[in-house]
Amino acid sequence: MQNNLQSKSPCVVVLGTGGTIAGTAPAGAPDHRYVAAQLGVAELLAGVAGLAEAARGRAVEAEQVAQVDSKDMDFPVWRALLARLDAHLARPEVAGVVITHGTDTLEETAYFLHRVLHDATKPVVLTAAMRPATSAEADGPRHLRQAVGAVVAEPRWHGVAVVLQGEVHDAATVRKVHPRALRAFASGEVGPAARWHDEDATWRWQRPLAVPTPWAGSRATLAQAAWPWVEVLHSHAGARADAVTSWCAAGVAGIVVVATGNGTVHHALQAALQQAQAAGVRVVRCTRCPEAGLLEAGRDDDETPWCAASALPPAQARIALMLALMAG
Ligand code: SIN
Repeated sequence: MQNNLQSKSPCVVVLGTGGTIAGTAPAGAPDHRYVAAQLGVAELLAGVAGLAEAARGRAVEAEQVAQVDSKDMDFPVWRALLARLDAHLARPEVAGVVITHGTDTLEETAYFLHRVLHDATKPVVLTAAMRPATSAEADGPRHLRQAVGAVVAEPRWHGVAVVLQGEVHDAATVRKVHPRALRAFASGEVGPAARWHDEDATWRWQRPLAVPTPWAGSRATLAQAAWPWVEVLHSHAGARADAVTSWCAAGVAGIVVVATGNGTVHHALQAALQQAQAAGVRVVRCTRCPEAGLLEAGRDDDETPWCAASALPPAQARIALMLALMAG
């Protein structure tokens, strides 16, 4: 099997997981009546004009790993995706891998892969779309051309990132910021790492991609049946501690507090969270502010120093805590 794979010509692999990019609306119906995750990835790629040119002579292989609306993304899909990524990235003829994904949890999958593939030496690009494949304004084909083009034409790139709307985003900063607009993703004050320039069809890099913090766990760790239960809790006006109390009673392993401003937490939550922490639940703070994260090392004037601060957006902070718990 391995010899067969090695004898193949240079290629890019596209792994399909579903999402709006593979969504369809009934004939004549408006776009918003579409259903996500309908077209198989091979069928999707067959409809993308200019894909072969974008791949610059390399074959484009398609493989369906899952077919889900990404609101339903789950750990078994992540395990399956990682297994296929490991297999394809180990093939010498594979230049890199593109993953088609729903936009709703794209930042979670991207960050998970960024951490567990921290030593990847080839590009892994997640892409998606805000319009279904049947839309007259479908954005998926352009994103696929750009993602495949980025994989074959960017020799400096290794590791996981996101390509959407002519921008390359880091997995650790990207977040979905608009529920409907075509330009639905941003990376806060750091901005995208690269932008596509139509005039000369090149990516212009503003900075290198962020280097992932190595993860101490292994594939055997990820194979364990139950991953740690980590919840996300918002601090807000009129906050109540009930959720913390009931999660702790039910055995939660970690809580990410989406704190106000520069990391402050409502007094009604603080006591319960401190109790939870004393009982062995790991508590981490990130901020509700979308433009930048907290200072990881905390500040001298930090009024909430009783739990660790995270520079990550909430969705990524939750996965970071889960991975930290798994790695022990
Ligand atoms: C999904 O996340 O699978 C549906 C929404 C989208 O892809 O935009």
